[in-house]
Amino acid sequence: MFNSRSRIQTADLAGRVVAITGAGSGIGRELALLCARRGADLALCDINESAVDDTAGAARRFGADVITHRVDVSDPDQVAAFADAAFAHFTGVDILVNNAGVGLIGGFLDTSHKDWDWLVSINLMGVVHGCDAFLPRMIESGRGGHVVNLSSAAGLLANPQLSAYSATKFAVLGLSEALRIELEPHRIGVTAVCPGVINTAITKTSPIRGSGDADGRRQRLAATYQKRGYTPERVARNILRAIDRNRAVAPVAAEAHVMYVLSRLAPPLARRIAAQLAKVAE
Ligand SMILES: NC(=O)c1ccc[n+]([C@@H]2O[C@H](COP(=O)([O-])OP(=O)(O)OC[C@H]3O[C@@H](n4cnc5c(N)ncnc54)[C@H](O)[C@@H]3O)[C@@H](O)[C@H]2O)c1
Repeated sequence: MFNSRSRIQTADLAGRVVAITGAGSGIGRELALLCARRGADLALCDINESAVDDTAGAARRFGADVITHRVDVSDPDQVAAFADAAFAHFTGVDILVNNAGVGLIGGFLDTSHKDWDWLVSINLMGVVHGCDAFLPRMIESGRGGHVVNLSSAAGLLANPQLSAYSATKFAVLGLSEALRIELEPHRIGVTAVCPGVINTAITKTSPIRGSGDADGRRQRLAATYQKRGYTPERVARNILRAIDRNRAVAPVAAEAHVMYVLSRLAPPLARRIAAQLAKVAE
């Protein structure tokens, strides 16, 4: 029963507590606001303190009780302090969203060890730290719940211009699949969310590696994301729907659904499409 339907009905989140990392911008911010609109209280963190404070201010206008922390998710102690604050302030945490993430554009040959360390420490270890800090007390409380980990369409189909990023997002998908089975007896669902091309600040903040005119590449990338026009608000709605349906993997936006199906049914064709898609970032 638990597998087909989550015990958390997301249409009404009154009395629920949602913890979100990277809530200062994009998908994390919009998800926080949507949860607040549906009645949830929030524990929010971000490496950018003023940005997360801004999200909190907007969420409080919907009546939410909100705590915020400045947290670098690559630091396990900072994430643990965030979890301590959340469990001290609220009666428990129902939904944990490991959303904080960074991008890096470039092929493997242009990606340095330092780049790898940075990406892995945030995109993969940030998720590990979030689960580590929150799960024991979520389990202990016995109230069930849900974990959402932000993977990516690049975690379904490898993109050669997002070499290290793809690797971290494949890892998040694998971790989520394993965790889902492990947490089922505790009535905690796990969903790996795999958005496609979403128009957020990530196109502006992701470092660009390799030869060529970096400014021109960034402009082309930002223009592609803008033209696609898929908003983080829509992602937020899809995330709550995926929790409601207790989805294991939730592709978001048409291109992510296509990649999901093709990568499983027609891998050679999927790889050819991935190579074409990568040209946008070259
Ligand atoms: N935008 C897309 O097209 C897209 C597609 C697939 C997956 N995603 C994933 O969705 C998630 C959210 O991305 P977004 O597009 O909303 O990006 P965004 O840049 O708008 O937001 C990311 C937030 O994470 C925060 N952050 C970055 N490093 C952090 C750290 N070390 N500790 C704590 N917070 C940190 C940033 O300050 C920012 O507020 C990421 O995991 C990203 O990889 C995004």
